[in-house]
Amino acid sequence: MLLTIRSLDKRFPGTRALDGVDFDLRAGEVHALLGENGAGKSTLIKCLTGAYRRDGGEIRLEGAAIDPRSTVEAQDLGIGTVYQEVNLLPNLTVAQNLMFGREPRRFGLIDARAMRWQARAMLADYGLDLDVERDLGSYPVAIRQIVAIARAVALSGKVLILDEPTASLDAREVGMVFDVVRGLRDRGLGIVFVSHFLDQVFQLTDRITVLRNGRKVVTEETRGLDRMRLIRHMLGRELEAETADRAARDRGSRPAMLEFRGMGRPGLIEPFDLEIAQGEVAGLAGLLGSGRTESAELLFGLRGARTGEARDQSGPLQLRSPRAAIAAGFGFAPEDRKTDGIVADLSVRENIALGLQARRGWARPIARAERNRLADDYIRRLDIRTSGREKPVGELSGGNQQKVVLARWLAMNPRFLILDEPTRGIDVGAHAEILRLIRELTEQGMSLMVISSEIDELIAVSDRVIVLRDRRHVAQLAGEEITGDRIMRAIAATDAADSGEAA
Ligand SMILES: Nc1ncnc2c1ncn2[C@@H]1O[C@H](COP(=O)(O)OP(=O)(O)OP(=O)(O)O)[C@@H](O)[C@H]1O
Ligand SMILES: [Mg+2]
Repeated sequence: MLLTIRSLDKRFPGTRALDGVDFDLRAGEVHALLGENGAGKSTLIKCLTGAYRRDGGEIRLEGAAIDPRSTVEAQDLGIGTVYQEVNLLPNLTVAQNLMFGREPRRFGLIDARAMRWQARAMLADYGLDLDVERDLGSYPVAIRQIVAIARAVALSGKVLILDEPTASLDAREVGMVFDVVRGLRDRGLGIVFVSHFLDQVFQLTDRITVLRNGRKVVTEETRGLDRMRLIRHMLGRELEAETADRAARDRGSRPAMLEFRGMGRPGLIEPFDLEIAQGEVAGLAGLLGSGRTESAELLFGLRGARTGEARDQSGPLQLRSPRAAIAAGFGFAPEDRKTDGIVADLSVRENIALGLQARRGWARPIARAERNRLADDYIRRLDIRTSGREKPVGELSGGNQQKVVLARWLAMNPRFLILDEPTRGIDVGAHAEILRLIRELTEQGMSLMVISSEIDELIAVSDRVIVLRDRRHVAQLAGEEITGDRIMRAIAATDAADSGEAA
């Protein structure tokens, strides 16, 4: 066995994050680590990589007991990690990122030629031929991920840990990263894969270990597990069936509440028109980089120098800035919630109340009882796993932090809310809850725009789906037309094929 973990314990004040967990990793396998938000996945990984000190238990690598006290020490032992938020520096070149801390030297100086050459050789192993002198940040996320993997493998070389590595990749890019991971498995590395995308888990992994409330529930061969049984292990209960009763919600015939005409920005997104009815959900589909997020940002006043105009029933709307958009009753929960939204030191309650408070102005503080009520309400509705509303958000698991940011926008009760990848990083159980909540909000009259890379999710929530390609709105599907097949075809079509379906 490459790696053996026995009876691993980790406690935080008021939380038993890991409780006697056993875990084995073979050389030459991809092993999924699964569980609900807050189950203990990231904590297990942090104990393994020395980011956290464990309170008890034993870790053995190739038979020898190890006790890494820092991620660098873990790396030296052979354990490397790639997080979702790629742990590299976008402003350095590809070569600098790959060779950082171990640059080849000549006469005491960094040898730039050797560095370029070595970096290129490293990437050739992964079938990548990049200009290693360019800033890493100028490459797409998938490439950055592969560079991060290449660096981690070069530094460690025995165990590779991927904690939600595919969260911001589109389908094609996921394929690229998976090919790289399979190649490393075939070279004999042990790979731990943490993800909330069960399809990917079934595609890629050899074995699955499920955690629940800090305990190990089961380890099984992926081949022997079916999806329902896996979900039951994760949730400790059945997942309630999702019913998409779109037919019952005929919003298409309602009058527009908001009208956008000629919204665009040269070079960023071609002008588009959009009408949103009250209680309607408009889904945005398209590949990463197709202009989905940029479209949303335009509507929210986030991109300067745009063309176009917006109006509601009572007249034109000024959307020159996010502040103006919020005043007009708009909300926007961005994709990158971790960096955009969270104030780690503030409590769950204060993080939830923050948006509402900012809109009212700080001169008129929201009464404490009201903030408590809001917090408790959303903790319950979104099933935020926390020991209480006073807990600092930074101490919540990743998925639960995301739910807090979502709660902040919901608490502001906007009439038009844009959700960019609302279920990213969120477990299967909470995923269903959020889709249910979206439906409930529309019944109460809120209009939504939902951006998602998961087509099933778009189909489940949308009354209308707008498809983007190459920074253009290329098709619009409504009612019965909203099928996975139609959406995929519109995403993949060529310009010539559009004419029939153009928006
Ligand atoms: N630094 C910390 N301080 C206090 N509690 C923490 C800390 N880090 C994690 N926890 C708690 O430990 C538990 C496990 O969290 P962990 O981050 O391991 O979950 P996870 O399985 O990775 O979830 P997710 O899918 O949401 O990322 C949670 O109850 C969390 O609140
Ligand atoms: Mg986590």
